[in-house]
This record gives sequence, C-alpha cells and structure tokens, in this order.
Amino acid sequence: MINKNVLNELRQTFKQNRVIKFNNLIPRNIMDLIKKECHEALDNHGHFKDFTMNYSTRKLSVVSGQDITALKYPTLYNFAISEEVADAFRFITDNTKLKYGIQPNLFPCHINYQNSPTFHHGWHLDDAGYKLVITTLWQPGSNEKGGQVGLITNFVPDHMLLKPVKQRLLVPNSDLEIQKEASQNTEDVCNYNVNKKHIQVIDYQEDDCYFMEGRRSMHCVYPLTNNTRRVTACFSFDDVHDGSNYQESADLLYQEGDLKI
Ligand SMILES: [Fe+2]
Repeated sequence: MINKNVLNELRQTFKQNRVIKFNNLIPRNIMDLIKKECHEALDNHGHFKDFTMNYSTRKLSVVSGQDITALKYPTLYNFAISEEVADAFRFITDNTKLKYGIQPNLFPCHINYQNSPTFHHGWHLDDAGYKLVITTLWQPGSNEKGGQVGLITNFVPDHMLLKPVKQRLLVPNSDLEIQKEASQNTEDVCNYNVNKKHIQVIDYQEDDCYFMEGRRSMHCVYPLTNNTRRVTACFSFDDVHDGSNYQESADLLYQEGDLKI
C-alpha cells in the first residue's frame, strides 16, 4: 500500500524538521476511499464545538472516532490499524515503540472541519505521540488568508515529553526566547509571547498530509477568513498516551451533544 520509494526521503526530512508534509506516500485509490468515507462520516456524525480547554480556544466541527465503525467506514478503520502504515512511520521516526493510537475518541481517527470565518483550532499540545493529518478537502477560495497550520516543533523539551499536558505547558523549551512583553515579533501561544521566528506556518492543499510529534509540537489551525471548507482526517500514533488533555472533561472535544452541522 505504502510507496516505499519516498520513505527514505521522508525519514531524512523528519529527522531535520520534526514534521513532514507529503502527498505521495498513500496510493491514489486508498486516498480516494479515505476521502469518500471521511465526508460520509462528516455528513452523518459531524457536530459543532466552540469552547476553551487548557488555554486553547476551539471553534470547529468534529467527528469522534467512536462514530467511525469498522462496519460503516472500513477504509478509515483498516488504514488506522494497518501494520504496514505503522511500520512506515516507525521507519520515518526511528521509533520502534510507535503503534496506532487506541484512545476512544481518537480511534480509528477523528475528523476536523472548518467552514466559516473565525473557525479555528487554537494552539495546543496533543496527548498522542504522533499525528498523521490527511487533508481530504481544502477549498482555498480566491482571497483566503487563514486556515494554515502553525507549528512549534520544539515546544516541549525532551525531559518533559512524558509528562501530562499541564506540566508540558508549564515548562516550554528555553530555546524559544519567550518574551515578557508582547511585540510585533511575538505571537501569543497559550499565554506565552513566543518569538515568531520559532513558528512554522504551513500551507495546504487537498491531498496534502502532514505528520508531526503531537505531544512535543505546539500546533494550531489559524482562523479562516472566508467561507471556505477544510476537512482533515487525523490518525493518532502513540508510544505514550496519557489522556491528560481530557482530565477535566473526558469527552469535551469529541462527544456529541452540541449542534449537528
Ligand atoms: Fe492536535
């Protein structure tokens, strides 16, 4: 299933950048099925969320992994549990302990959807060790300024990586040159004034995928400025997963109960 020719290149890039963006690893026919099932799941189970958790505001629609059953969405399910896929990312990360994530709301995957101005997914750290995000729909619009992914790949220092999210947020990497005062060179990241030179801003198109260290990398989706549509299928891979984002409200982000979209 996986295009083995591109693995070496991605491994080198990941080693240098701690994030990779690609559109040539997953075969076309699998991508088409992933996209089809992803959009069916969104039609059937999507619900709107607007809240703040761990200093991070979130305004987007989501589908919980709990709604993505093997029977109804076999491609999403089988892709998530594929040993071939896990093997590819073990190779890319050089982490033999990597395995597919099994957290209920995140397994087999979860789906995020932004479709209106101001919709966004604020700066946050994941519980999952790694995230693979597949862009299944991305209509940029003629003058869309938002919707990019922001990423600080070295936010959490090595010695904090296994700690719960609140501790990881408390002890950011000293290399980040966090300023006391906000300025035009800084951006507010979970109440820290981080020098913008440490923030990677990554643009996407439909079919682009990215893979990053979710626990280590601070990341966000910047607010949309237009009525454009962006859908992503997000697959988790863990060597460690503590569920610490959800200590206060286990299903806050993904459980249904809010408005259907
Ligand atoms: Fe995330």
